[in-house]
Amino acid sequence: MNQPPESGALPQQSKRKKRKLMSSPALAIQLSDAEMRLLQALVYQECGMFFDSRRTHFLQDRLQRRLRECRMDSFYSYYRLLMSAAGKQELICLVENLTVNETSFFRNKAQLDLFHKHILDELIRRKQEQRECQLRIWSAGCSTGQEPYTIAMLVADALAYHQLRMPSSKDTVWPKPLVPPPWKVEIPASDINYSVLRAGQEGLYSEHQMASVDYSYRLRYFDKVGERYAVKKAIKELVHFDFHNLKTEFLPQSNDIIFCRNVMMYFDEAEQRRLVEKFYRCLSPGGFLLVGHAESLLGLTDKFTMVYRESGTAYKRIEVSQ
Ligand SMILES: C[S@@+](CC[C@H](N)C(=O)[O-])C[C@H]1O[C@@H](n2cnc3c(N)ncnc32)[C@H](O)[C@@H]1O
Repeated sequence: MNQPPESGALPQQSKRKKRKLMSSPALAIQLSDAEMRLLQALVYQECGMFFDSRRTHFLQDRLQRRLRECRMDSFYSYYRLLMSAAGKQELICLVENLTVNETSFFRNKAQLDLFHKHILDELIRRKQEQRECQLRIWSAGCSTGQEPYTIAMLVADALAYHQLRMPSSKDTVWPKPLVPPPWKVEIPASDINYSVLRAGQEGLYSEHQMASVDYSYRLRYFDKVGERYAVKKAIKELVHFDFHNLKTEFLPQSNDIIFCRNVMMYFDEAEQRRLVEKFYRCLSPGGFLLVGHAESLLGLTDKFTMVYRESGTAYKRIEVSQ
């Protein structure tokens, strides 16, 4: 994945960003159509997000915030800054301000049931037969971490259940590891927004954020720390947060499953097509792609087939015979 500016850890929030927004000067700049098009094109080119006429007020509002923060009162001086080498950090800030980071644990229950009971089951059996006990599940556009941690909890449960049905001589190890040997699980979790990645890495959630986590999961996979819940170390170790922009050509390879939910809906059709094509290439044969409830691959590709149970849907890579 793309390396964050300071390799290793995610960069800390800058002092400038932490500073409270100035209440004045409240010089609201109304962009002309030409200026708006310039801004739309720049954002689209940078991250794939497309702001059509229904969402330009949002773009205008967030631009206003950045202008106040940078103490600038002209769109063109701000645009010049964004285009300059010195403006790289400001472009990152602008994009962060434009992302919608809404997420929750166990989001889209029907789809997760399909993932847990059917897709994982099929994948674990297939891998066991091939004696390749490794799972790699990428959460692309992971926001504050609820999605990859949900995946980690479901995978841990699925492997424990698999072990119950097919006990092995290594089961005598005590205390039982979360991922039973010889299995290896990797859950890369990526986003374009450094603030949400830091929150995910911290893994601390409020009572409100935990509303959709039932008590059996809270007891097994979280510790209560003051008023908040901390994801247990064994689950945290399965998830690796990293910066990655889905707009770039480089995508991490050899994924068994990709979750990219509620991300493509902010892209236009051309960008969605490009992304689905890239996902096809970075999935392992027989791999699955899971998109959001309001998203679909219909009309974008013929390289996936839809699988569904109840109202849960996913897409399986179609293999072309040589
Ligand atoms: C609405 S959240 C979805 C979170 C989670 N997948 C879910 O469904 O609950 C969308 C996330 O996609 C991220 N995002 C938007 N454009 C992106 C891009 N070009 N590359 C990577 N992540 C992006 C945003 O920063 C945001 O955190």
